[in-house]
Amino acid sequence: MIKQGHTLRATSRSDHSQLCQDLGISYLRDAIAFLEADNDVILICTSILSLPEVLKSMPLHGLKRQTLFADVLSVKEYPRDLLLKVLPEESDILCTHPMFGPESAKDGWKDLAFVYDKVRVKDEATCSSFLRIFENEGCRMLQMSCEEHDKMAARSQFLTHTIGRVLSEMEIKSTPISTKGFESLVQLKEGTVKDSFDLFSGLFLCNRFAKEELKNLEISFEKVKLKLLDMMNVRQDINDSNL
Ligand SMILES: NC(=O)c1ccc[n+]([C@@H]2O[C@H](COP(=O)([O-])OP(=O)(O)OC[C@H]3O[C@@H](n4cnc5c(N)ncnc54)[C@H](OP(=O)(O)O)[C@@H]3O)[C@@H](O)[C@H]2O)c1
Repeated sequence: MIKQGHTLRATSRSDHSQLCQDLGISYLRDAIAFLEADNDVILICTSILSLPEVLKSMPLHGLKRQTLFADVLSVKEYPRDLLLKVLPEESDILCTHPMFGPESAKDGWKDLAFVYDKVRVKDEATCSSFLRIFENEGCRMLQMSCEEHDKMAARSQFLTHTIGRVLSEMEIKSTPISTKGFESLVQLKEGTVKDSFDLFSGLFLCNRFAKEELKNLEISFEKVKLKLLDMMNVRQDINDSNL
């Protein structure tokens, strides 16, 4: 964003001033000073589970102008509903999910998916210029409803993270005879456990479609297990009849 000529200010509960200084971002410890600054866009990047607490701690009465609120949470109906509830009518709301993070985007954002839903946008110019930041970096821009996103993400991202966490519980590691398939499982495990447990639990607790997918996973696991046990019984029968 800085490379594209934008001015950035940040605030958080912890002190990130050194990192911000290194990146050329002004860091404001005081949320009031942050909200009173002349921000076109306020981009919310907190953990999914802390969003209600973070919004509650923001003195929204301090807003001095019409502002676009955007978020990057990995679930979308949940922040949409909260933002519609707490933000003043005159604030615009853009719900987004960059489908990438520090690992997958370390070499740039080109061809990576960027999902967005214009939940309440009156100031089209500001919204378009915010979206252009991602377009300019070559992201695949996907406009879809928060509901569509959550349905799809429960069946893809939540599933990926759940399987990664299961593999981590199993403590899988590369072996000298690893196949490429197994190596991709090891990579999946390593990639998912790098994300915080807050993020993973948010994917489950704050996406109404995730419970069904967890159930589907359990049912499918049982089906595969039954197929194997059936085969075991068939072989036992063959062995018995050969005796
Ligand atoms: N990681 C990814 O690949 C990725 C990709 C797309 C979207 N996202 C979304 O981006 C957001 C941030 O993700 P993340 O990977 O940085 O990890 P995260 O664990 O989901 O979030 C960490 C952030 O949440 C803040 N936070 C946590 N608990 C808080 C609380 N009780 N009160 C106030 N702030 C709190 C932290 O602030 P402090 O640093 O001040 O403690 C930090 O900024 C999430 O909503 C996630 O779903 C992540």
